[in-house]
Parts: sequence; C-alpha cells; structure tokens
Amino acid sequence: MAAKTTRAVGVDIGGTGIKGGIVDLDKGTLISDRVKVATPEGAKPQDVLTAVEEVLGTLGISDDKIPLGVAFPAIVKNGRTLSAANVSHDWIGFEAEKFFEDGLGRDIHFANDADVAGVAEVRYGAAQGREGVTLLTTLGTGIGTALIYNGVLIPNTELGHLQRAGHKRDAEAYAAYSAMERENLDWEQWTKRLQWYYDYLEFLFSPDLFVVGGGVSKHSDEFLPLLSLKTPIVPAVHRNNAGIIGAAALAAD
Ligand code: BGC
Repeated sequence: MAAKTTRAVGVDIGGTGIKGGIVDLDKGTLISDRVKVATPEGAKPQDVLTAVEEVLGTLGISDDKIPLGVAFPAIVKNGRTLSAANVSHDWIGFEAEKFFEDGLGRDIHFANDADVAGVAEVRYGAAQGREGVTLLTTLGTGIGTALIYNGVLIPNTELGHLQRAGHKRDAEAYAAYSAMERENLDWEQWTKRLQWYYDYLEFLFSPDLFVVGGGVSKHSDEFLPLLSLKTPIVPAVHRNNAGIIGAAALAAD
C-alpha cells in the first residue's frame, strides 16, 4: 500500500500578494518559510503563472512528487474560473486549472481562496469539530466566504457580493479591509460597516459560528469586541496562512 501523503504545497493567489508554503498535513502547519511575491499588476493569467513559478522555485519545488493546491479569488467550478472581481477579466470562463497544469507540467488542484481557508479552519483550526453552520469570511482586498455545514463545505458562496439595498457598492466594496485602507477609516468606523454585514449574514443563514480570516484577523482584538452579534465570532486560527494550508490539504485528498 502506498504511504499516506503527509506533506503538500499550498499557493494562495490574492489581490495584492501570492503566498506559498509547504504544509505538514498531519498538523496543518507550515514546515517551510512562507514565500510571498507581489501579485503582478492587472493579474493576467500568464503573469500570475510566472509569479507562481517564482514562489515554487523559492520553495525548491521542482517536481510533482508533492501535491500542489492553488487558491484563487474567484468562483472556481470544475477547474474553470467563472468570475473576476479583483483580477483581470481574462479569468472569466477560463480553464485555469488546465492552464496551470500545462504551464507547470504537473497536476494541481485549483479552488476558491475562501473555500480553502474554510477547509483549513475545519480540519485544523477554529471550526474543528463544530456542528451546524459555520460561516468563514475573509476580509482582505475583497470579502470571501466559505459556508460549512457539519464539517462539509458548500463551495462558491460569494457572499462578499451581497448587495446593499439602495446603494451602488456591494458588501465587499463597502466593508472589505481594503475599504478601510482606501477610505482611511478607523477601527470604529470600519466596524460599523462590519456590523451591518454580519447582521445581514446572521439573518440570512442563522449560523452557529463565524470565523474571520484574512490578514486583518491578526488585529481581531481591535474590531471583534466592537461587534454585537448573537452568533459567536472568532478569528481564524491560521489567519493569513489558512489559504496556503487549505489549498495544500485539498490537493492531497
Ligand atoms: C471574489 C471571491 C473571493 C473573495 C476573496 C471576491 O471578490 O469574488 O471569489 O473569494 O473576493 O478573495
């Protein structure tokens, strides 16, 4: 019988950075440095592929002996990217998984970035062993969501694009971490926007747990205590590494 894979590589493509690492799948932790390069201007497919090659080169991954998962900020269905909120429109209806497999000359597993972060938190983090509905949100350039029921992911929920009645901007344009940076909001001003967002999610999904990921989750003490919700809300244990860890975990399945 073949030995169980205990390591895999995860690469998380984001609006501003492309991050990668080698993951211990028993523990759900990084066993390499976390390598990061800037997301190329415009985030077109070929440029993103070149950046991913650079990350893999720095990690010393040159063959296909170790599974590779790639997370991307768009709807991903059967290896195709179907949306492009913060990346080039070239990705809409694009055979992304095949493009990366051809370019890298190896198998990969391609999935939505928030979904893989949800998988990481279910397997190794804040949602481990939780029954009922867990809703993970990543607050970054956009807002990503992962809906999990009794440990099972319901993929591609895209709740960052909920519309706000009477407003032009959707939820992510109003309440992502990038909105706070763009508009120089302080924690209190930004949290008012998050309050609207989580109230709305709570009303729509009656979750049992909210998990908050994305880079800003390392500052969760600044904003989570200011929120008033019926549902417990906790930071992602793996914070900004959840995408890398979840992508790696799915690739090894
Ligand atoms: C995209 C999602 C993604 C999220 C976080 C949104 O703009 O539509 O697919 O998960 O950003 O990156």
